[in-house]
Order: sequence, then structure tokens, then C-alpha cells
Amino acid sequence: MTDQLQKKTKVWSGRFSEPISEKVQEYTASIGFDKKLALFDIQGSKAHAEMLEKVGILSNEELNKILDGLNRIAQEIKENKFNWKIELEDVHLNIEARLTELIGEPGEKIHTARSRNDQVATDMRLWLRSEIDIIAGLIQSLEKSILSQAEQHSNSLMAGLTHLQTAQPITFGHHMMAYHDMFARDYDRLLELRKRVNCLPLGSAALAGTGFKIDREFVAKKLGFEKVIDNSLDAVSDRDFVLEFLNFSAILMIHISRLSEEIIMWASDNFGYIDIPDEFCTGSSIMPQKKNPDVAELARGKTGRAIGNLINILVLMKGQPLAYNKDNQEDKEPIFDSVKTIKDTLDIFSAMLRSIKVNKANLKKPFDRSYTTATDLADYLVAKQTTFREAHEIVSKIVTFAEKKNILLQDIPLKTFEEFSEKIEEDVFEILDCEGSIKSRSHVGGTSPDQVLNAIKTAKLKWQACLKH
Ligand code: ARG
Repeated sequence: MTDQLQKKTKVWSGRFSEPISEKVQEYTASIGFDKKLALFDIQGSKAHAEMLEKVGILSNEELNKILDGLNRIAQEIKENKFNWKIELEDVHLNIEARLTELIGEPGEKIHTARSRNDQVATDMRLWLRSEIDIIAGLIQSLEKSILSQAEQHSNSLMAGLTHLQTAQPITFGHHMMAYHDMFARDYDRLLELRKRVNCLPLGSAALAGTGFKIDREFVAKKLGFEKVIDNSLDAVSDRDFVLEFLNFSAILMIHISRLSEEIIMWASDNFGYIDIPDEFCTGSSIMPQKKNPDVAELARGKTGRAIGNLINILVLMKGQPLAYNKDNQEDKEPIFDSVKTIKDTLDIFSAMLRSIKVNKANLKKPFDRSYTTATDLADYLVAKQTTFREAHEIVSKIVTFAEKKNILLQDIPLKTFEEFSEKIEEDVFEILDCEGSIKSRSHVGGTSPDQVLNAIKTAKLKWQACLKH
């Protein structure tokens, strides 16, 4: 490559006496992935140009040419006709070069009072903000799917587990609402962090700001940013907004993964709690009888990416001195990957969850061979003036007795109960019944069907409030 050619292709190569090696060019270029930001880069450039015109740096005629040129470039990109060049390194320089090619000299003025450092930070924030708005909608539809299952099964008895051992009776609706609440927190977390994404770096230039009399507030308003970032060094080097988003994504995927794990177990013959429609399953190439819950397994597997991407950027940022360093170019692929992963997963998950069929009879099966109302029996004794520790002791003995005899608590005759405690009377059989047990847990956050319906109602009201905003 001759010096002359190099000058033409590299905007920054004025001081270089040797051309860049091809290997270095390939290694340092980001165009392979940052072209995803192109339309946001154009949006930012338009606002920047309008500001330059407002403060008298560009004439009105120049501005119009720039806007026209940028619109044409946007069209070319949308129609897949834009010729991306690796020699032009990244999305910013590709678009600037094309602008100058299309409109001549005014194109060369677009980079006045800005640097790629504040430009790329702006592009990333604009892009992420628009993805956040899509993801917020996807979380809401997942919540909807969960609510519809919870509503259908507010009354469906199920064995609640701790340590994966049968613990106490709950309702399937209550179990579903636990997941609803996790995703509702994810939604809140997303909207919280959106505020910190929605800030303007542009105007910070390379790191120190610019000597031109720019109007940052004007640009912020044009781009819909809530505020201008105060410190120019911070503005170009900060990637906390990427970290916060990746943290949100990792937590969201952990929730999806936990739910996936349950779905996989529930769909197995050992549980038989649910049936996943065929369209969300795959078969085995060797075992003709198999129907595998691949969607849930893959979602559980993809959680690794989301966590990995967070760790990636945490390490990327650790130890970086102020201000911009080329390291930051590495923020893109991980966040692009997390965004794609959570969008795809949320989308398929809400469809799958909505169509899952619950087998109510199987949900109750563990009750045929376990002592899930033992705690209710202890509470019953406490209500009759026994201390909880003493009650626990008495009930442990009763359970051991029942186990030996291979009978359930409700099958023990009253006479035998009386031998363990004279406080036990005929009314004990009401509380040994699972239906009675869940009904009794009727406080805020409890598993009783009326509380589950209340929780569903509250969740729906919260949404309606969201939609009004
Ligand atoms: N492609 C670069 C990135 O993604 C743009 C900023 C380059 N700035 C620089 N001073 N080399 O971070």
C-alpha cells in the first residue's frame, strides 16, 4: 500500500510513515461486529450536526447536505447495499468516509468537536436503550404466561419441596407466582438501570471536552437522553452501564435456568407433573420413545453465556486507567451476545410456558407416601398450649410410628394419637388434610388459593400502572 493510498483510507494516518500491516488491520478492526450500531451512529451524527449548525459551526446548507447524506447512507444500510470496508476499521469511520464520498466537503466537517471515543459510547447507549425497551416487553409477556398458569392452578395442590424432599403442601399457582415475582424484580432492575444508560457522553470529545462552544443539552434532548454526563473523562471511559445490563442479564438467566431445571424434572416420568407440547421438544436419534425438553435444557445451558459475558466485562474494566483505551472495543461482542440470548430465550420461554399442560393428579402423588402435614400437627399442638419444641418432639415420634406401620398421619386412629398427647382431639383430622393445610396459610405471601389470587390481582394492577406510563 503506498503512502498516498494509506492517507486516503486511514483518517488518522497523517503522522505515520509506514502503512499499517494487514495483520494489525485485521486485529484492530471492529467493523465485523460494530456495524450493528450503524443506524444509531447515524442518529447520533444527525443530532451532532444539528447542534453544530445551531452554534454556527456549520451553515444551514452544509447541515442539509449532511442530513441528506446520512439519510441516504441509512437507506443503503437498510437495503444491505452499504459496502463495509475493513480498511476503514469501524462503523464510525466507514460512515464518515461514505458521507464525504456522497456529499464532498461538508462530510469532512461532521467530526468537528467530537471523537470516536464519545461517539462510540453514545452509539452503545442509544443501541442498548432501544434493546432494553424490547426486552422489557418480552419480560412482560413471560410474566403474562406465568400468571395464566398461576390463575388456572391457584387451587391445584402440589407437594412443596425443600432440599428436594417433600416438605409441605402448596399450590402450583403459588409456585408459579414465586417465579413471577423473580421476573418482576428483573423488570424493575431493567428499568432502574435504563436511567443510567440514558445519559449523553457526546461533547466529551477524546477525553477533555472541546474548545468549540457546543450545546450538549441540545444534543441530549434531540437524542432523548435524560441527562448529560458530567465528567468528560468518565463519559468516554465508563462502561458501568454495560456491566449493569450484563448483571441484569445474568440474574434473569439464572431465574430462567432455575425454572428450566424444574420444568425438566417435572416433565420426566419420575414426576409426570407436566406435559410440554411436542412443538417445544425434540426426539432422540436412537430411542424412538424419547421426547426431550430441549428448549428448557438449552435455556439452562445458555445461562453460562450470560454469566460469562458479565465476568468478561468485569475483567475487561478492571485495571483500565482513565480515559478511553482500545480495550473498550471488546465490550461489544459480549453484550450483543447477551442481548440476543435473553431476547431469544424470553420469547420462546413465554410461548412454551403458556402451553404447558399440568397433570393435577400427579402433582398430588407425593402426598400418598409422605407426611407433609407434620408441621400442621405441631402447630395444632402449639395452639393447644404446647411449646413448639415439645410439639416438634411429639410429632417426630408420631411420624416414626406411622413410618413403621406404613400408614399416613390421617390414617392413625384418634386413640393412638391420644397416647402421644392428650391434647390431640377429633378436630385433628381437619388439619391433617392437605386442603386444610393450604387454606390455613392465608396471610400475605402464603400459599392459600385466595392469597394466590390476590397476588395475581396485585401483579396485574402493577402492569396496568406500568402501561399507563
Ligand atoms: N472501534 C472503537 C471502539 O469500539 C471506536 C473508538 C476508537 N477510538 C480510538 N481512540 N481508537 O471502541
